[in-house]
Amino acid sequence: MDELLSPEQLLSSFSQLESEFRADVDGAADLAALQQVKTKYTGKKGLLTTGMKALSSIAEPERKKEFGRRLNDLKRAVEEAIRGREILLREGEKEKRLLTEKIDITLPGKAVPFGRRHPINQVLGEIKDIFVSMGFGIEDGPEVELDHYNFEALNIPKDHPARDMQDTFYVSDDVVLRTHTSPVQVRVMEKRRPPLKIIAPGKVYRCDADVSHTAMFHQVEGLMVDTGISFSDLKGVLELFIHIFFGKETPVRFRPSFFPFTEPSAEVDIGCVFCRGKGCRVCKTTGWLEVLGSGLVNPRVFDMAGYDPSRYSGFAFGMGVERMTMLKYGIDDIRLFYENDIRFLRQF
Ligand code: PHE
Repeated sequence: MDELLSPEQLLSSFSQLESEFRADVDGAADLAALQQVKTKYTGKKGLLTTGMKALSSIAEPERKKEFGRRLNDLKRAVEEAIRGREILLREGEKEKRLLTEKIDITLPGKAVPFGRRHPINQVLGEIKDIFVSMGFGIEDGPEVELDHYNFEALNIPKDHPARDMQDTFYVSDDVVLRTHTSPVQVRVMEKRRPPLKIIAPGKVYRCDADVSHTAMFHQVEGLMVDTGISFSDLKGVLELFIHIFFGKETPVRFRPSFFPFTEPSAEVDIGCVFCRGKGCRVCKTTGWLEVLGSGLVNPRVFDMAGYDPSRYSGFAFGMGVERMTMLKYGIDDIRLFYENDIRFLRQF
C-alpha cells in the first residue's frame, strides 16, 4: 500500500485492515517490533495517515462523514491496541528482567580471608610471655649496630671468626648489621644499674643461607645481673623456660661451650623432639638438640660496661626463634618461614 489509495479502495479494505492490524499488534514480540507496527499504521506514511489524507478527496458529504467516522474509530482502535500491547510487553520485559536480575539471598557470602600472626611472631610472643611471667622486662636495640657493641664490648677480638667478612654484613668499617642480640646487653648495662633482669628480642643478620640458615633471623637475648647470681640461677631459669615452652617431660642438659662474652659458657640441649632421644638424622644420632647458648657474664664485659665485677655477677643467654619454632613444630626447612606460602602459614 505504497501509493495513495482512493477513498473507495480504502473504505472497501477497512474490514480487512481491521483484522490485519490486530494480527500485527498481537504478533509484535517485543517493544521494537511494536514500534514498527506503530509506524506502519500511524507513522507519517502509515496506512491511517494516508487514509486521513484521502478524506479530503471525498466530495459527497454523507460518505465523507461516514468515512471519517470509520477512519477515526479505526485509528482509536489501532492506538488502543498498540497501547495495550505496549503495556503487556513492558510488563513482560520487566518480569524477564526481574527473573534474570534477581539476587539469590540464600547464596553463601564471599568469605573474607582472615590474616593471622606469622608463626615466628607467635612463638616470639610465647617466649616473651614466659620470661615476662618470671619478672623479666623487655628491651630493644638497633639492628644497624656499631662494631663496638656487636663485637668489641663483648670481648670479641678483631681476629675472631665471627667477624669474618663472610659472616657479617658490614655497613662500613665500624658499622655492621648486628649478628646477634648480645649488643643489647651492653647498651642496657651502660644506661642502667643492677639489678637487671631483661630479655631483648629482635632481628639479627648473618651472611648465610641454607636449610637451617637465613640471612635474617630472630633471637631472644636474656640478661640477669645482681649480687650473688650463680650458675644455679642460670640453670633454674632456663630449665623452667624450656619446660614451659617444650613441655614438662622434655630432658634438658647443659654442655660446656665457649663464648667470648661469657665465662663459663654452656650450650643448652634438649632431648631430640624428633626421635625422643633414640638418635636420628636430625640430632646426628646423639639424641640431643642444641637450643641455646648461655653462660655467666664474663668479668671483662662488666668492666667495659662500667659494672664492678667484684661486686656483681650475672648470666646471659641467647636463642634463635626460628630454631625454637622448628623444633616445637617439627619443621625441617627454615626457608619455609619466609616463602610466605599461605598453605604453610595457615597451619599455625
Ligand atoms: N650471642 C650468642 C649467639 O649469637 C648467643 C649467646 C648469648 C651466648 C648470650 C651466650 C650468652 O650465638
